[in-house]
Amino acid sequence: MKQSHIRNFAIIAHIDHGKSTLADQIMALTQTVSVREQHAQLLDDMTVEQAHGVTVKARTVRNYYQADDGQEYEYNLIDTPGHVDFNYEVAKSLAATEGAILLVDATQGVQAQTIANYRIAKQRQLTLIPVLNKVDLPSADIDAALAQLNDLDSAFTPEQVLQISAKTGQGVPAVLEAIKQRLPAPKGNLHQPLKALVFDSLYDPYQGVIAYVRLIDGQLKSQQALRLMQGQQDFNGKTIGVFAPQMHPQESLSAGDVGYVATGIKDPRKVRVGDTLTSVATPTQRPLAGYQPAKSMAFAGLYPKNNDYPALKEAVQKLNLNDPSFTYVEERSEALGVGFRCGFLGTFHLQIIRERLHDEYGVDVLTTAPNVTYHVTLTNGQQVIVNNPVQFPAFSLIKEVTEPFMKAEITMPADNLNAVLKLAEQHKGTLIDLANSGDLIVASLKIPLSEIAYHFFSELKSVSHGFASLSTAFMANEVSDLVKVEVDINYAPVDALTFIVHREDAPNMTQQLVANLKTTVPRQLYPTPVQARVEGKVIARVDVPPLRKNAAVNGEQHSTSKKAALLRRQSANKRRASKNTIKLPQSVFNAILSL
Ligand code: GTP
Repeated sequence: MKQSHIRNFAIIAHIDHGKSTLADQIMALTQTVSVREQHAQLLDDMTVEQAHGVTVKARTVRNYYQADDGQEYEYNLIDTPGHVDFNYEVAKSLAATEGAILLVDATQGVQAQTIANYRIAKQRQLTLIPVLNKVDLPSADIDAALAQLNDLDSAFTPEQVLQISAKTGQGVPAVLEAIKQRLPAPKGNLHQPLKALVFDSLYDPYQGVIAYVRLIDGQLKSQQALRLMQGQQDFNGKTIGVFAPQMHPQESLSAGDVGYVATGIKDPRKVRVGDTLTSVATPTQRPLAGYQPAKSMAFAGLYPKNNDYPALKEAVQKLNLNDPSFTYVEERSEALGVGFRCGFLGTFHLQIIRERLHDEYGVDVLTTAPNVTYHVTLTNGQQVIVNNPVQFPAFSLIKEVTEPFMKAEITMPADNLNAVLKLAEQHKGTLIDLANSGDLIVASLKIPLSEIAYHFFSELKSVSHGFASLSTAFMANEVSDLVKVEVDINYAPVDALTFIVHREDAPNMTQQLVANLKTTVPRQLYPTPVQARVEGKVIARVDVPPLRKNAAVNGEQHSTSKKAALLRRQSANKRRASKNTIKLPQSVFNAILSL
């Protein structure tokens, strides 16, 4: 295909505004998928995506479009995720395109992720086509949404904004024409040495790592000697091809094209997303800029449930290839054995990774309570970075601790403001700015990441009845009064239950925690004390009742000698249990999560 007839574009939008539905519609209209193959959300094919109804991974599809001018165009569409935790995927996809459809739900208008994604696209100087979706719904407020779009960008005049229903297909043909007319064709040079961006990858047991590539310059042929510049890795490319939407082999790919190369490389770590692919024979001089690595926001320990460490290790490595925004280092816990300390973009990301490990690799994991990164200055001036609460230094050695603060922008209708500000205050947020955007209010807050990383998003949805939306960006590390809570079960500390909290929250949280643990720690033959310690003092305690009734109190009808025998046995058991052998189920760790 001539470059002038290629369009590479993404669909960007706030969560649930209908990206995947529009992508389905585009594939149907261009007959990329036959009627037989059509089922809703074709691209959200991962089990986790179907379970949660959200896109997690960006997808790529090549479509052929018969334009009104009678010519055929190649449309490479990249579907992107909308959840806050997956902004990184959006930025990655946009690096491979020249333009994007900015999709807005007419019933909800411009939301936080609409603005966040709009900014990412603008930074990349992409051409945008504003599209209003769901105009078929009676609750659609088209005028309000048009005004908000115009506020966002003065170029988005009502005449420029297309109005569609991705569900019924109304207006979608006009979107296809607009892609041809408004988006630029790629500008690469076919006669330069090969230069391609690896924008995604996947592991295939037969073909090794499959690299998703966007060709900038030159040509790519199957069976060619290739080089990954950053990874300094040479290999012989196996098959190459395009996604339609399944993998579809081709003889060659040219500048401007989007497709894949089966690398045959078995070690997932050797193919890095953001790397530049070139040919060994005539390598390009300058590699592409690549990506900023994603910054992990939340950390948690992942441990194999049935002690199958090798299986977990392999799964984690492969998953990291497919999703490099998740990081891992090996760690050892006394309670749980060998596992990994993993970094995530947020807690929803953590949940998704856990489910993917189960669905795609058959590995079940125990996850410890997530935490953020703390910077600790010791009294001797030394600096320690703590990603694992267990390594949080003893309180007597600490001079000060800083934790990450975020700038949270909450976009909402005016009548939600009070409820949202109250919620933010409960989470130690301070208001920086209030601004109007059309009939919406944008509140900018400074708030500790540890407060918003867990349940904040769902609480926000709940207090605002689904109307408020959130986008966050790292601000700075600032001093906070934080303490380490250690938990003992049967007088033995359980390292994997250690966590860090704000001092003022410690009494309340530990009371709730031990109450939760009372019902989740597996019962033993003897009463099991569970206690939470802060700075050496026990501040909460509870006894997990024994499996059987205590002979000493409940044995009224037994003889004294029987009672004594029972008590002797119980105390012997207790002594034997001085080292903790209680196997902890996931529900114990969830007891912390649910606080
Ligand atoms: P994420 O991938 O989670 O970010 O969502 P998305 O933006 O891909 O949204 P998706 O396509 O999954 O659509 C969300 C919901 O809106 C689905 O239940 C769709 O059926 C519905 N929907 C999408 N477009 C329309 C439309 O034009 N009209 C109506 N009535 N419903 C729509």
